[in-house]
Amino acid sequence: MKSRLATLLLALLGISLLFAADDPPAIEPEVVIEEDMHEIMESLFELPFDRLKAALKTEEEPTLKSDWLAIRSDALIMAQSSNLLLARSPHPDDTAIWSEYSVGTRDAAKTLYEAAGDTNWVEVKAAFPVMIKQCNLCHERFADDMRDLKP
Ligand code: HEC
Repeated sequence: MKSRLATLLLALLGISLLFAADDPPAIEPEVVIEEDMHEIMESLFELPFDRLKAALKTEEEPTLKSDWLAIRSDALIMAQSSNLLLARSPHPDDTAIWSEYSVGTRDAAKTLYEAAGDTNWVEVKAAFPVMIKQCNLCHERFADDMRDLKP
Protein backbone atom coordinates (compact mmCIF):
# COMPACT_ATOMS: atom_id res chain seq x y z
CA MET A 1 0.00 0.00 0.00
CA LYS A 2 2.78 2.34 1.00
CA SER A 3 4.77 1.67 -2.15
CA ARG A 4 1.66 2.17 -4.34
CA LEU A 5 1.14 5.56 -2.78
CA ALA A 6 4.78 6.40 -3.37
CA THR A 7 4.47 5.36 -7.03
CA LEU A 8 1.35 7.46 -7.42
CA LEU A 9 3.05 10.48 -5.89
CA LEU A 10 6.07 10.02 -8.12
CA ALA A 11 3.82 9.76 -11.16
CA LEU A 12 2.00 12.96 -10.18
CA LEU A 13 5.31 14.72 -9.67
CA GLY A 14 6.46 13.53 -13.09
CA ILE A 15 3.28 14.82 -14.74
CA SER A 16 3.50 18.18 -13.03
CA LEU A 17 7.14 18.54 -14.06
CA LEU A 18 6.16 17.68 -17.62
CA PHE A 19 3.55 20.46 -17.64
CA ALA A 20 5.85 22.87 -15.86
CA ALA A 21 8.44 22.36 -18.57
CA ASP A 22 5.86 23.27 -21.24
CA ASP A 23 4.64 26.43 -19.50
CA PRO A 24 6.43 29.55 -20.67
CA PRO A 25 7.82 31.54 -17.74
CA ALA A 26 5.32 34.11 -16.45
CA ILE A 27 6.32 37.59 -17.59
CA GLU A 28 5.04 40.65 -15.82
CA PRO A 29 3.84 43.05 -18.53
CA GLU A 30 4.89 46.21 -16.71
CA VAL A 31 7.22 46.58 -13.77
CA VAL A 32 7.47 49.90 -11.98
CA ILE A 33 11.13 50.86 -11.76
CA GLU A 34 10.68 54.20 -10.00
CA GLU A 35 7.78 55.47 -7.87
CA ASP A 36 9.20 58.72 -6.58
CA MET A 37 7.83 61.76 -8.44
CA HIS A 38 11.01 63.78 -7.85
CA GLU A 39 13.10 61.09 -9.55
CA ILE A 40 10.58 60.68 -12.36
CA MET A 41 10.52 64.42 -13.05
CA GLU A 42 14.28 64.74 -12.87
CA SER A 43 15.15 61.85 -15.18
CA LEU A 44 12.22 61.69 -17.57
CA PHE A 45 11.26 65.37 -17.80
CA GLU A 46 13.97 67.72 -16.56
CA LEU A 47 16.87 66.37 -18.61
CA PRO A 48 14.98 66.09 -21.91
CA PHE A 49 13.46 69.51 -21.22
CA ASP A 50 16.88 71.11 -20.67
CA ARG A 51 18.24 69.53 -23.83
CA LEU A 52 15.26 70.74 -25.85
CA LYS A 53 15.52 74.22 -24.43
CA ALA A 54 19.17 74.40 -25.48
CA ALA A 55 18.40 73.01 -28.94
CA LEU A 56 15.53 75.45 -29.52
CA LYS A 57 17.26 78.57 -28.23
CA THR A 58 18.65 79.37 -31.65
CA GLU A 59 16.67 80.77 -34.57
CA GLU A 60 18.60 78.53 -36.95
CA GLU A 61 16.94 75.28 -37.77
CA PRO A 62 19.06 72.13 -37.40
CA THR A 63 21.00 71.00 -40.42
CA LEU A 64 22.09 67.62 -39.08
CA LYS A 65 19.73 64.67 -39.13
CA SER A 66 21.03 63.68 -35.69
CA ASP A 67 19.97 67.06 -34.25
CA TRP A 68 16.43 66.61 -35.54
CA LEU A 69 16.43 63.11 -34.12
CA ALA A 70 17.54 64.40 -30.72
CA ILE A 71 14.64 66.89 -30.63
CA ARG A 72 12.22 64.20 -31.68
CA SER A 73 13.60 61.76 -29.13
CA ASP A 74 13.29 64.19 -26.21
CA ALA A 75 9.73 65.10 -27.20
CA LEU A 76 8.82 61.42 -27.32
CA ILE A 77 10.40 60.75 -23.92
CA MET A 78 8.15 63.40 -22.38
CA ALA A 79 5.05 62.40 -24.34
CA GLN A 80 5.38 58.75 -23.37
CA SER A 81 6.38 59.56 -19.82
CA SER A 82 3.22 61.63 -19.42
CA ASN A 83 1.32 58.36 -19.71
CA LEU A 84 3.24 57.17 -16.65
CA LEU A 85 2.03 60.21 -14.72
CA LEU A 86 -1.58 59.18 -15.20
CA ALA A 87 -1.37 56.43 -12.61
CA ARG A 88 0.44 58.62 -10.06
CA SER A 89 -2.06 61.11 -8.79
CA PRO A 90 -0.96 62.15 -5.29
CA HIS A 91 -4.49 61.86 -3.86
CA PRO A 92 -7.74 60.24 -5.08
CA ASP A 93 -9.54 63.61 -4.77
CA ASP A 94 -7.05 65.14 -7.22
CA THR A 95 -7.08 62.39 -9.82
CA ALA A 96 -9.34 64.17 -12.34
CA ILE A 97 -7.28 67.35 -12.52
CA TRP A 98 -3.97 65.46 -12.28
CA SER A 99 -5.07 63.32 -15.25
CA GLU A 100 -6.18 66.39 -17.19
CA TYR A 101 -2.71 67.98 -16.80
CA SER A 102 -0.97 64.70 -17.67
CA VAL A 103 -3.03 64.30 -20.84
CA GLY A 104 -2.56 67.98 -21.72
CA THR A 105 1.22 67.58 -21.44
CA ARG A 106 1.20 64.30 -23.32
CA ASP A 107 -0.76 65.74 -26.24
CA ALA A 108 1.36 68.90 -26.41
CA ALA A 109 4.58 66.83 -26.34
CA LYS A 110 3.10 64.61 -29.06
CA THR A 111 2.51 67.66 -31.28
CA LEU A 112 6.14 68.64 -30.72
CA TYR A 113 7.26 65.09 -31.51
CA GLU A 114 5.29 65.04 -34.76
CA ALA A 115 6.54 68.47 -35.83
CA ALA A 116 10.12 67.30 -35.25
CA GLY A 117 9.37 64.14 -37.24
CA ASP A 118 8.27 66.39 -40.12
CA THR A 119 11.42 68.51 -39.61
CA ASN A 120 9.07 71.49 -39.44
CA TRP A 121 11.06 74.10 -37.54
CA VAL A 122 8.26 76.67 -37.39
CA GLU A 123 5.89 74.15 -35.83
CA VAL A 124 8.55 72.83 -33.45
CA LYS A 125 9.27 76.35 -32.20
CA ALA A 126 5.54 76.98 -31.77
CA ALA A 127 4.83 73.67 -30.03
CA PHE A 128 7.51 74.05 -27.36
CA PRO A 129 5.94 76.94 -25.38
CA VAL A 130 2.51 75.33 -25.72
CA MET A 131 3.89 72.21 -24.05
CA ILE A 132 5.60 74.23 -21.32
CA LYS A 133 2.30 75.89 -20.48
CA GLN A 134 0.87 72.43 -19.78
CA CYS A 135 3.86 71.47 -17.59
CA ASN A 136 3.41 74.67 -15.60
CA LEU A 137 -0.30 74.11 -15.03
CA CYS A 138 0.48 70.94 -13.14
CA HIS A 139 3.39 72.46 -11.25
CA GLU A 140 1.33 75.46 -10.13
CA ARG A 141 -1.16 73.06 -8.59
CA PHE A 142 1.04 70.19 -7.40
CA ALA A 143 4.72 71.12 -7.18
CA ASP A 144 5.33 73.28 -4.13
CA ASP A 145 7.56 76.33 -4.54
CA MET A 146 8.41 75.54 -8.11
CA ARG A 147 9.06 78.42 -10.45
CA ASP A 148 7.43 78.37 -13.91
CA LEU A 149 9.48 76.70 -16.62
CA LYS A 150 10.34 79.05 -19.46
CA PRO A 151 11.24 78.39 -23.12
C1 HEC B 1 0.59 65.80 -13.77
C2 HEC B 1 1.54 66.67 -13.11
C3 HEC B 1 2.81 67.09 -13.76
C4 HEC B 1 3.06 67.35 -15.08
C5 HEC B 1 2.11 67.24 -16.26
C6 HEC B 1 4.44 67.75 -15.19
N1 HEC B 1 5.02 67.74 -13.94
FE1 HEC B 1 6.93 68.27 -13.52
N2 HEC B 1 6.58 68.02 -11.56
C7 HEC B 1 5.40 67.55 -10.99
C8 HEC B 1 5.56 67.46 -9.54
C9 HEC B 1 4.50 66.97 -8.56
C10 HEC B 1 6.86 67.92 -9.26
C11 HEC B 1 7.52 68.01 -7.88
C12 HEC B 1 8.24 66.71 -7.63
C13 HEC B 1 8.96 66.69 -6.31
O1 HEC B 1 10.13 67.07 -6.27
O2 HEC B 1 8.34 66.28 -5.33
C14 HEC B 1 7.46 68.26 -10.54
C15 HEC B 1 8.76 68.75 -10.68
C16 HEC B 1 9.37 69.06 -11.85
C17 HEC B 1 10.71 69.60 -11.99
C18 HEC B 1 11.62 69.95 -10.84
C19 HEC B 1 12.66 68.92 -10.66
C20 HEC B 1 12.37 67.84 -9.70
O3 HEC B 1 13.24 66.99 -9.65
O4 HEC B 1 11.38 67.79 -8.96
C21 HEC B 1 10.95 69.75 -13.32
C22 HEC B 1 12.22 70.32 -13.96
C23 HEC B 1 9.77 69.30 -14.02
N3 HEC B 1 8.83 68.89 -13.11
C24 HEC B 1 9.66 69.29 -15.40
C25 HEC B 1 8.47 69.03 -16.06
C26 HEC B 1 8.27 69.23 -17.48
C27 HEC B 1 9.33 69.69 -18.45
C28 HEC B 1 6.97 68.90 -17.73
C29 HEC B 1 6.24 68.99 -19.03
C30 HEC B 1 6.81 68.40 -20.19
C31 HEC B 1 6.36 68.49 -16.49
N4 HEC B 1 7.30 68.58 -15.50
C32 HEC B 1 5.06 68.09 -16.37
C33 HEC B 1 4.24 67.24 -11.68
C34 HEC B 1 4.05 67.36 -13.05
